[in-house]
Amino acid sequence: MHNRIESVEQYKSSYHSSLNESESYWSKVADTFTWKKEWNSVTSGNFEELNVKWFDGAKLNITENCLDRHVQNHPDKIAIYWEPNDPSDLAISFTYAEVLEQVNKFSNVLVENGVNKGDRVCFYMSMIPELLFGVLACARVGAVHSVVFGGFSAKALAGRVSDCKAKLLITNDQAYRGTKIIPLKKIVDEAIQGCESVEKVLVFNRTGAEVPMTEGRDIWLNDLLAQASDTFRPVEMNAEDPLFILYTSGSTGTPKGLQHTTAGYMVWASETFKNVFQAGKNDVYWCSADIGWITGHSYIAYGPMLNGVTQVMFEGVPTFPDPSRFWQVCDKYKVSHFYTAPTAIRALEACGPEHVEKADLSSLKVLGTVGEPINEDAWNWYNEKVGKKKCPIVDTWWQTETGGIMISSLAGVTPSIPCHATLPLPGVEPVLVNDKGEKIEGNPAQGNLCINRPWPGMARTIYGDHERYRQTYFSTYPGKYFTGDGARRDDDGNYRITGRVDDVINVSGHRIGTAEVEDVIDEHPEVVEAAVVGFPHDIKGQGIMAYIIPKNTNDSDNEGIFELLNEMITKDIGPIAKLDRIVLANDLPKTRSGKIMRRILRKVAAGEFDQLGDISTLLNPEAVESIIEKVKAQ
Ligand code: WT7
Repeated sequence: MHNRIESVEQYKSSYHSSLNESESYWSKVADTFTWKKEWNSVTSGNFEELNVKWFDGAKLNITENCLDRHVQNHPDKIAIYWEPNDPSDLAISFTYAEVLEQVNKFSNVLVENGVNKGDRVCFYMSMIPELLFGVLACARVGAVHSVVFGGFSAKALAGRVSDCKAKLLITNDQAYRGTKIIPLKKIVDEAIQGCESVEKVLVFNRTGAEVPMTEGRDIWLNDLLAQASDTFRPVEMNAEDPLFILYTSGSTGTPKGLQHTTAGYMVWASETFKNVFQAGKNDVYWCSADIGWITGHSYIAYGPMLNGVTQVMFEGVPTFPDPSRFWQVCDKYKVSHFYTAPTAIRALEACGPEHVEKADLSSLKVLGTVGEPINEDAWNWYNEKVGKKKCPIVDTWWQTETGGIMISSLAGVTPSIPCHATLPLPGVEPVLVNDKGEKIEGNPAQGNLCINRPWPGMARTIYGDHERYRQTYFSTYPGKYFTGDGARRDDDGNYRITGRVDDVINVSGHRIGTAEVEDVIDEHPEVVEAAVVGFPHDIKGQGIMAYIIPKNTNDSDNEGIFELLNEMITKDIGPIAKLDRIVLANDLPKTRSGKIMRRILRKVAAGEFDQLGDISTLLNPEAVESIIEKVKAQ
């Protein structure tokens, strides 16, 4: 592997030149990839005009970099160890040559079913190898993949499929998830009714269940793959051609389809993986995320594959058949690099030490965390019980929008500091600004985290709505990308992410927009008004709490409202957005202009009753007293 940063000095000089000699730095990095044609300009555009381009003029296919070049060098190296949900089921592995074959077959299937360059293809699958092959096949034929996490509801799936006007929807009959079976095809059938763009549904037979197949629309993917040729010539793509769309929630409105493009994303996913994890030739990497989230895109489907690394892909959940599963999988495949979320760490810690203690775990060298701030207790447990105090922990801060890791230590190269993401990667210029948008100079500092200049992996737009992209990320602090997170910077310039400063809740590392949940609650005929906030939750990081003004003031008339609301939320969004608590209130604190004071609701939900600040300017200060009473009584 070329160009890996291997010392603190090298980090410092790379960081410096990535910002001060950006063109030559990134062109040297880009030289290590396979291109069909070189770029005309390394970087162009800016946040003001929002016309950012990287490696413009270049032609490439990202899958040649993920697969073909490795197949030339090490065809028989294992690319994927696939571990099924049930440990007694058959585990399967694929070499790089075999993955290429599978991806070629899948590419032929896509083309034979009418997929052309630029078409959107939606995946609603579980963590089976065909999801990975399908995603890479889209990239190989030049189609744009949009993966929807298998935990979203039919309605949420329909919204995403319609928004990007997907031509093809790919699913499996059913998914195994711990002890549960998720009827994916059934959910697709329900979702697809309003999705006019979808011409065909390809169904992979995973569980062998009897599922209804609609004549002329639904086809068994297994049959198509079995008949497909295993050679395929990758389609030449422009650097800025879209690679994928991935939906994520924000403060307001419907989920946004963040669109990433080909060359910049490739370089970013690859470089960040290489430098942060420092995986060597014989290492085995495992990221426990689902490909339905950005972590699975950048650090399962692309980053490790671009680096020719061996990785584990896991179909199941951390607690099935019991809470030692993660550690058993680590031992089984001699995992050296393990990447997971704080919520999983906390959940497993809560199951007791015996599960982790009975595992060997001596193969582990590097641990990673992602998705939400990690608390000290979880960090220490991860370090002591899993890493046996000999594995550096990389706390990787980034977002769906950033395409890849932005702030993180480099494993074993730059120091890990408990609960700190630490230092920006080359190319990343973070700034902290106060609420007026003024840059906070010097250390220590605390403020709203922004990024001051374009980087290769950044999303280029929101699919179909460039203006919304500008409004959401580039209008709060003009000239800067606003992350929505707050952060502190210590005396040495290390960043500690403190969490979202907007109306986004981070539940078990999943982003939930408060407005989305409120919209569902407002549909309930007995609800006058509702406000949803996050509150600290021991396992999930944040839980979801709704303050609700019911029509009926008589409490006994509102029995069952909690369960009913959660049924509605599960139907409209998915179980990940279910409420943990509700408070039935007579009134909600509002500003004189009638806006609900969420800041106060958040403090009350957190039990910080004495930190409410000045409430005398509210329209209805007495509402605060009354909700405090209700919360205290819970
Ligand atoms: C939000 C992005 C990045 C992949 C998974 C989530 C939070 C992410 C960290 C971290 C503290 C983190 C932020 C961010 N977040 N990583 N290491 N420390 N917070 O991607 O769904 O786009 O969510 O996750 O609040 O804004 P996402």
